[in-house]
Amino acid sequence: MISVTGKRPENFKGDLLVYCAIQHKDKMPLCEEGIKKLVKPAWKSGDFKAKPGETIFLYSDLLGHAAKPACPRILIVGLGERKENIDEVREQLRLAGGTVAGAARKCRARKVLVVLPQMKEILVADKAEAMSEGLVLGNYSFDCYKKEDKDRPSPVRNFYLTGSDSATSLRLGVKRGRTTALAACRARDMANEPGNFWTPEKFAEFGKDLGKKYAIKCRVIEKAAMKKLGMGGILAVNQGSASPPKLVILEYISNTKNPTLMLVGKGLTFDSGGVSLKPAAGMEDMKYDMCGGAAVITAMQAVGQEQPNNVNVIALIPATDNMSGGAAVKPGDIITHFGGKTSEIINTDAEGRLILADALAYGIKKYKPDAVVDLATLTGAVIIGLGHHKTGLLANDDTLAARLLSAGESAGEPLWRLPLGPEYSKQLESKVADIKNTGGRPAGTITAAAYLQEFVGKTPWAHCDIAGTAWGFTEKSYVPKGPSGIATRTLVTLIRNWKPLKK
Ligand code: BES
Ligand code: MN
Ligand code: ZN
Repeated sequence: MISVTGKRPENFKGDLLVYCAIQHKDKMPLCEEGIKKLVKPAWKSGDFKAKPGETIFLYSDLLGHAAKPACPRILIVGLGERKENIDEVREQLRLAGGTVAGAARKCRARKVLVVLPQMKEILVADKAEAMSEGLVLGNYSFDCYKKEDKDRPSPVRNFYLTGSDSATSLRLGVKRGRTTALAACRARDMANEPGNFWTPEKFAEFGKDLGKKYAIKCRVIEKAAMKKLGMGGILAVNQGSASPPKLVILEYISNTKNPTLMLVGKGLTFDSGGVSLKPAAGMEDMKYDMCGGAAVITAMQAVGQEQPNNVNVIALIPATDNMSGGAAVKPGDIITHFGGKTSEIINTDAEGRLILADALAYGIKKYKPDAVVDLATLTGAVIIGLGHHKTGLLANDDTLAARLLSAGESAGEPLWRLPLGPEYSKQLESKVADIKNTGGRPAGTITAAAYLQEFVGKTPWAHCDIAGTAWGFTEKSYVPKGPSGIATRTLVTLIRNWKPLKK
């Protein structure tokens, strides 16, 4: 669906031919020599400055015979002003890709050729990667539950990229961008699927499928084994459920001498709150409570495809729904986590930390990873603090935190670090058990992370609270309403650049 072509733009016979233009203050935008005479009148009339998101359509039939390209329609997309920061350049290209995908869909184009602009500020492969991500992510739609409608524009079938740069570098970039963007689209699919379809079983099936396709081993810890292992957190959350819990584990081992990164993602397939029931308004959104698990499992799809040789990656997805009922866990109940720590359940709606605690404790004991990253739609409080624009980051290790911040910046998925500390951990003291599962209203995002911190010991660990960014993320051309597919690309970026934490 996206590939590099050596075809000359003027000979392209598809539906839409795209050029990029760079804003140049109030001067004529910068663009390919060949299209200057097209851009100039649009700029002169004040219609087009090449600002981000700005577009103009031109029709080949209106051009003179000699200059007329084979493609009937030309789109010129604005990139905005030149940027110096490489992450900003990437984002600029991703946004342009998203704009192109949206415009192409509106005019029902099926085959689209994008001519990449000349840019000294970014490597050719990185340029092609970012544009590809924008095109693929912006081309996303989910309408498998709607009846066929001929009036609904369908996604673009084929994107082609070309440019005056080395075809090898273009191909490398397109491949990288396609891998991560398709993985993130898969995460969006999982989230869009309703809770009555995307059950814990589906996480297990997806994991087993990865195991068949790639050099990845998949293990699923079933309910009976959880009982034997003493995973009281996952079991407690699952008590009110009609479907069994699963702990899906994926192991990618490149070399036993390599450092091991462990990923854990909250796979809560529907969060009703349990006995501490959530209000009805907006409860349907709680089918998205599995977005951490989706990010982790789709990042593993990319790992399977790329087979990095610098790191081993272990992924754990604890999966269950959180339901009410006669068998459900109740406020006041005391549970025992994997490893023996007891916890007093104050609020059954603080369930994410319960399933993550078992997965973290088990994964660290079993795999002795060099670093751990967990991702979860963990608290409403993070939306109050950071809105829908930044993921909350909490970590016990500054190097790991810095790496996540930088991976997120590069992927266009920014994070913001919040503190941890004994003052916050104290809020979790229980009168009857080792800890309790809520720390009251103040600093809800931090006390949730402090709960997880109880289970990681001294292992370098970072926690990403994606409750604000997993859906309803910052409006962008390449991010639809609904689930954003957040963190898949950040994780792959982190993995691609991985090196040992301490020399
Ligand atoms: N899944 C929710 C967090 C959430 C809330 C995500 C809103 C997205 C939007 C989580 O399980 C939860 O219910 N957290 C509680 C914790 C509280 C009971 C301590 C919350 O944030 O209210
Ligand atoms: Mn909850
Ligand atoms: Zn939840």
